[in-house]
Amino acid sequence: MDRLQDWPEPIVPVQSLSESGARTIPARYIKPPNERPSPTTISNFHASIPVIDMSADPEHVAQTVGSACREWGFFQVVNHGVDPKLMRCARDTWRGFFHEPMEIKQQYANSPKTYEGYGSRLGIEKGALLDWGDYYFLHVRPPSLMNQEKWPALPNSLRPTTDEYAQELLKLSRRLMRVLSKGLGLKEGRLQEAFGGDKDGACLRVNFYPKCPQPDLTLGLSPHSDPGGMTVLQVDDHVNGLQVRKDGAWVTVQPVPNSFIINIADQIEVLSNGVYKSVEHRVMVSSTAERLSMAFFYNPCSDIPLAPIPELVIPDQPPMFQPMTFNEYRLYIRKNGPKGKSQVESLKIVPKAVHV
Ligand code: OGA
Ligand code: NI
Repeated sequence: MDRLQDWPEPIVPVQSLSESGARTIPARYIKPPNERPSPTTISNFHASIPVIDMSADPEHVAQTVGSACREWGFFQVVNHGVDPKLMRCARDTWRGFFHEPMEIKQQYANSPKTYEGYGSRLGIEKGALLDWGDYYFLHVRPPSLMNQEKWPALPNSLRPTTDEYAQELLKLSRRLMRVLSKGLGLKEGRLQEAFGGDKDGACLRVNFYPKCPQPDLTLGLSPHSDPGGMTVLQVDDHVNGLQVRKDGAWVTVQPVPNSFIINIADQIEVLSNGVYKSVEHRVMVSSTAERLSMAFFYNPCSDIPLAPIPELVIPDQPPMFQPMTFNEYRLYIRKNGPKGKSQVESLKIVPKAVHV
């Protein structure tokens, strides 16, 4: 197996490029013309991801969430029970961290082995094109992987706020799992059971996209689907950035203040036998505003093989994916970085040729 010991070349934080005042971006950040942000974007006047009120009638919520996961793989939730003050506090604290001096941040520099800490790239391919974003990655669950010593010590409020935020998002994620199960016509606890019950996992990635002098040439995060179970994302609402793939076009998400953006990730696509879609998304950057987002990745237990749930495998819908543990699965993105949906595609079972 390839070793994920270190980065292939020295890491340059994007924030230091942004703060250098240069009017152009280095060649390594320039995407090929067909991958640049503007031309394929369709206006949000024609389409947008569904907004779902979680305080509505539970049957109605399950049904609307179920159709959002089939059609978009994405939705926003309001009245989700997490205190907006805590949401804002978490965002402000992390913004504070990214505005600490570079020497402080670099004490937490990460390696591709676990990705824990402060980083600026995904993938270890030497000479790869890079994205215009920095991030901080940390483990929340299982308890054996959570180590607050690896979280920034400054600002002072960061560790307690992040801990409280993570516990609230864990509760919300488990609640959403029940809704997702019902939306598939399964019993409420079924998806959680497939995730290993209380052996579920969670990580947090705080993304920081500094201002970019040439936003039309690059991306903050290249197209990818999330490898885990489900993502609960909080974004800054003063600037757009996230785009979701829909029918071949890129739809810009208009964040509703105090909402969370939820998306199905690869493991739930596998468990649902392809009924729920883990959809590609990407991030645009801006020349006038920096942007912070907090992606809470809710994941299955990492060492149980995941395959389509038997109740969803019926004669008309044979199993679409081969079983794999999440530990094996996430090595791919750790090595290759964001590569669209290529990984989940690689698990697809190719129907056997019929010999006549
Ligand atoms: C991610 C992601 C979107 C954003 O971190 O996987 O897709 O808006 N983030 O930053
Ligand atoms: Ni993502």
